[in-house]
Amino acid sequence: MSTDRPAPTVPQSDLTVIDLPEVRRRDFPADFLWGSATASYQIEGACDEDGRGESIWDRFCATPGRIRDGSSGAVACDHYHRWPADLDLARTLGTNAYRFSIAWPRIFAQGRGGKPNAKGLDFYSRLVDGALERGLQPWATLYHWDLPQALQEQGGWATRSTVSAYLEYTDAVTRHLGDRVKHWITQNEPWCTSFLGHHEGNHAPGVRNYATAMQVCHHLLLSHGLAVPEIRRNVPQGRVGITLSLHPPTAASDSAADAAAVSRHDGSRNRWFLDPLNGRGYPADVLALLGPAAPRVLPGDLEAIAAATDFLGINYYFPEMVADAPDAGPIATRVVERPGVERTAFGWEVSPDGMVTLLDRVWRDYRPAEIYLTENGSTYDDVVRPDGSILDLQRRSYLARHLRAAQQAIARGVPLKGYFAWSLLDNFEWAEGYLRRFGLTYVDFDTQKRTLKASGEWYRDFLRA
Ligand code: FCB
Repeated sequence: MSTDRPAPTVPQSDLTVIDLPEVRRRDFPADFLWGSATASYQIEGACDEDGRGESIWDRFCATPGRIRDGSSGAVACDHYHRWPADLDLARTLGTNAYRFSIAWPRIFAQGRGGKPNAKGLDFYSRLVDGALERGLQPWATLYHWDLPQALQEQGGWATRSTVSAYLEYTDAVTRHLGDRVKHWITQNEPWCTSFLGHHEGNHAPGVRNYATAMQVCHHLLLSHGLAVPEIRRNVPQGRVGITLSLHPPTAASDSAADAAAVSRHDGSRNRWFLDPLNGRGYPADVLALLGPAAPRVLPGDLEAIAAATDFLGINYYFPEMVADAPDAGPIATRVVERPGVERTAFGWEVSPDGMVTLLDRVWRDYRPAEIYLTENGSTYDDVVRPDGSILDLQRRSYLARHLRAAQQAIARGVPLKGYFAWSLLDNFEWAEGYLRRFGLTYVDFDTQKRTLKASGEWYRDFLRA
């Protein structure tokens, strides 16, 4: 199995692409949704305020050696206090939607039980009102990785009782906000929670066990499926979906072994999620490879996971080139570097074409009613110039080229209905701490000053035109 976030030692390519293709807003459907995205732990800070409980990320960050720069999300962008100004920024960009996530430990400090924390609910209530006042359609993600630590101590996502705790939390939040928030994302990137958090161990809670990761993955999908009818009950006219991180795979060579590896990799990375969500159960070829590492599935689980949804959220960052690797775990594949290609500062390959291929394939094979790109973006080593501006030409080019790719996908018939740029703000990038900036807005973490980068200005001008 590959790593979603290749080691920081991956060499950057010398290829610096800054060209700006011609892409115009008016070439997109008039009702296309334009947004930016964030996540609670990455921006909020205020970790001890207003009754928020500890999350697995607080604990993970406090463990020496886990975060590359030794930092944490304790302050992050201080968004908990600065949210009105941040929503103003989103409005300045000219976006009409805003994707954010809710911190479960703000609602139930211990994960479950008793009354939900009114102060936590109030914060999101004010945020949602603030978004609506600024003409931003709120898109709420229920789980973007900050599990209450108290639940982790009872086994976390590896135990089935966390699914019922999630449903309790989801019920409280959707009851409270459902009169105003109509778009709900149940889970963000279950692959990352499962495999980065429980197999590779470089994300919280830092577990390293393949079978555990598979069981976690099943519980995440189950939590999604069981939440769908609950959200529908609580939110009149609500629209529900899940967000997956998907990667178009290609073969490292022409060999039959690598071609077979691509199929296995696609099975564990993409089909493992898309198949059960679409009523096809877990892919038989992958199940056979997993053997004893296969998750325990109870009667009725697969029916629950296949609950009909209104949209599919896709986070697209990069394609994966795959090679046969007989010694590499049950799937026996390895993601290898394509030589000489353009990469971001993270080492992630830049491939707008890969996005078209991916969207086309998902549409062809699964026919979701609607697709939203719920994240897409890039990180580069931004430099603040003497006049305070940030001329991030590579990020600007990345954005423009991916919007053109989005347009190409639509032209091919993909029901792509919206695009959320990752991210509104530079923020706490998980295991990388503050070393990776993904924002359209530069954040000076010493002063909390925000400055729109050239990429943000370009997005604004694109949206205004
Ligand atoms: C995605 C995560 C998001 C952010 C981007 C760069 O996998 O959903 O929180 O870290 O990567």
